[in-house]
Amino acid sequence: MGEGFAGRAGLITGAGSGIGRAAALKFASEGAKVVIADVDMAGSETTRAMIDQIGGEAICVRTDVTQAAEVEALVQETVGTFGRLDFAFNNAGIAGDIVPLTDYSEELWDRVIGINLKGVWLCMKYEIRQMLSQSPGGGAIVNTASVMGLISSATNPVAYTASKHGVIGITKNAALAYAESGVRVNAVCPGYIMTPLVAGVFERHPERKAQIVADHPVGRLGVPEEVSEAAVWLCSDAASFVNGTAMTVDGGYVAH
Ligand SMILES: NC(=O)c1ccc[n+]([C@@H]2O[C@H](COP(=O)([O-])OP(=O)(O)OC[C@H]3O[C@@H](n4cnc5c(N)ncnc54)[C@H](O)[C@@H]3O)[C@@H](O)[C@H]2O)c1
Repeated sequence: MGEGFAGRAGLITGAGSGIGRAAALKFASEGAKVVIADVDMAGSETTRAMIDQIGGEAICVRTDVTQAAEVEALVQETVGTFGRLDFAFNNAGIAGDIVPLTDYSEELWDRVIGINLKGVWLCMKYEIRQMLSQSPGGGAIVNTASVMGLISSATNPVAYTASKHGVIGITKNAALAYAESGVRVNAVCPGYIMTPLVAGVFERHPERKAQIVADHPVGRLGVPEEVSEAAVWLCSDAASFVNGTAMTVDGGYVAH
């Protein structure tokens, strides 16, 4: 176990699976007290058991990031249990079906934007309120965007592209608004990472897999741990001068 986050507490949304789970484990292995926030309680409990196994400390709080009252309660429970909110990784998200823009339904648009974009805003709203009010004040926030927040592709679902571009926008907005208050806000932009989210895409569209892999200059997809390394670093003191950035973790996907 490292000591970089000893005495610090934070929350991670979407920590019941994939990138969020890898990040929860990494934060805990660095000594952080971790709140696992997800709608999937079975997945959350698995993450907690994995943290237990490495001697870390974590609780699970069922949270739907689209519901303001639940996000507010999540922050309250974090502070009630661990005393403070030092960092947050706003990572919960969905892909949504791959449907052409002209066939995309309003319902799917609202769902993807609701979780991926509104959810990140709601999380920052209550997290930053807490970070401003605690003593000593301040904290670090990382939002999960995507390479689809920087570029797009002809087949990437329209709401997903919109939501992830939006995440980078609100990351910059918050970074500027609260920089003087000691709150740093950054984003990570993963390429395709082997998680249940991407496994689902490949299951529904097996014909797309070879091209997606080929789009990564390193010739492979990423693994969740490669993204969690970046998220943890951005929340750490080592990144004390990093604010408002959108860091790619993509094997070179957007470099060409
Ligand atoms: N896997 C990739 O290739 C990839 C690439 C770029 C960006 N991302 C982003 O990374 C993040 C994590 O994705 P992942 O690949 O680990 O997916 P995942 O499906 O493995 O995990 C996502 C988690 O979010 C949770 N979640 C969904 N809706 C929620 C809600 N309303 N409230 C709270 N939790 C909710 C799910 O239950 C799940 O546990 C997402 O924002 C995704 O868009 C993933």
